[in-house]
Amino acid sequence: MTPTQPQFSQVAVLGAGTMGAGIAQVCAQAGSRVVLQDLTEPFVQKGLARIRDFLQKGVEKGKTTPEQRDLVLGRITTATDRAAAARSADLVVEAVPEQLELKNGLFRELAGVVAPTCVLASNTSSLSLAKVFAGVAGPGRCIGMHFFNPVPLMALLELVRTTGTAPATVEAAAAYGRQLGKEPIVVMDSPGFASSRLGVCLGLEAIRMVEAGVAQPEDIDKAMVLGYGHPMGPLKLTDVVGLDVRLAIADYLATELRHPGFQAPELMRRMVAEGKLGKKSGQGFYRW
Ligand code: CAA
Repeated sequence: MTPTQPQFSQVAVLGAGTMGAGIAQVCAQAGSRVVLQDLTEPFVQKGLARIRDFLQKGVEKGKTTPEQRDLVLGRITTATDRAAAARSADLVVEAVPEQLELKNGLFRELAGVVAPTCVLASNTSSLSLAKVFAGVAGPGRCIGMHFFNPVPLMALLELVRTTGTAPATVEAAAAYGRQLGKEPIVVMDSPGFASSRLGVCLGLEAIRMVEAGVAQPEDIDKAMVLGYGHPMGPLKLTDVVGLDVRLAIADYLATELRHPGFQAPELMRRMVAEGKLGKKSGQGFYRW
């Protein structure tokens, strides 16, 4: 759980939602000191509580010792000021909402605040990294580090390089990914990368099948779980990720890739308009 020398000793994680909290946790588990930042104190406290709960469950399951839990929590501090959180970091990972202007503005602001050697990473699941990092000073240090939910349990780290990303940045991010216990893959900057492009496509087709009355959601999911060995069916996974989140990605990919497979089904739009967002709203393809 604690390698002697982490590749990045001081990490700033911007955004304390599900992904930000998970990223902060695995970085602290790898031995880094982490600042978890969000705009308000309640947001950061919610993120911290999520980490505490996960570690506590780990203790109850016998996967984590109380000492490890306390060590990891002791490495995490919180902040609401973005520049203060990032100033002494050697890695900044943003996990803020999937809005291009927000992410781009954040990196433009921080590029002048952090050291020139600080690696700037975005956890975007599908946005163009070239656009996320447009106009950011020092493009060689900019990279996509796409984590998967739940971050402490999922083995994949998708590294996304732009034409400007320096090979040394990719190597450092991959080395750190392995210290986090992840298996890194390297993907060129293209819409949806390797993971979201395939994953969202499968989810959208499953929704079209519900719409067409091919089978009940439970049975479509069972087809993939029992027939293809997926840990979770595409409809349940859409519920877990959030229908609104997946709809935004689908609309983005439909525009960028111009492929009919990414056209969001009417059923999905209707469910989002009705507030049926999946797990977080209590109702999606399943009742939670
Ligand atoms: N601390 C330590 N270990 C824990 C733990 C905790 N708090 N909670 C669970 N674990 C361990 C369990 O002990 C278990 O370990 P073993 O395999 O050694 O027994 C393992 O983690 C799995 O946990 P469970 O048995 O409780 O649960 P599960 O078998 O249902 O697995 C899951 C949970 C890994 C999340 C699995 O359901 C899964 O893979 N689901 C699919 C998730 C997925 O596809 N995520 C990607 C979403 S898309 C995305 O994230 C991209 C994006 O940009 C939106």
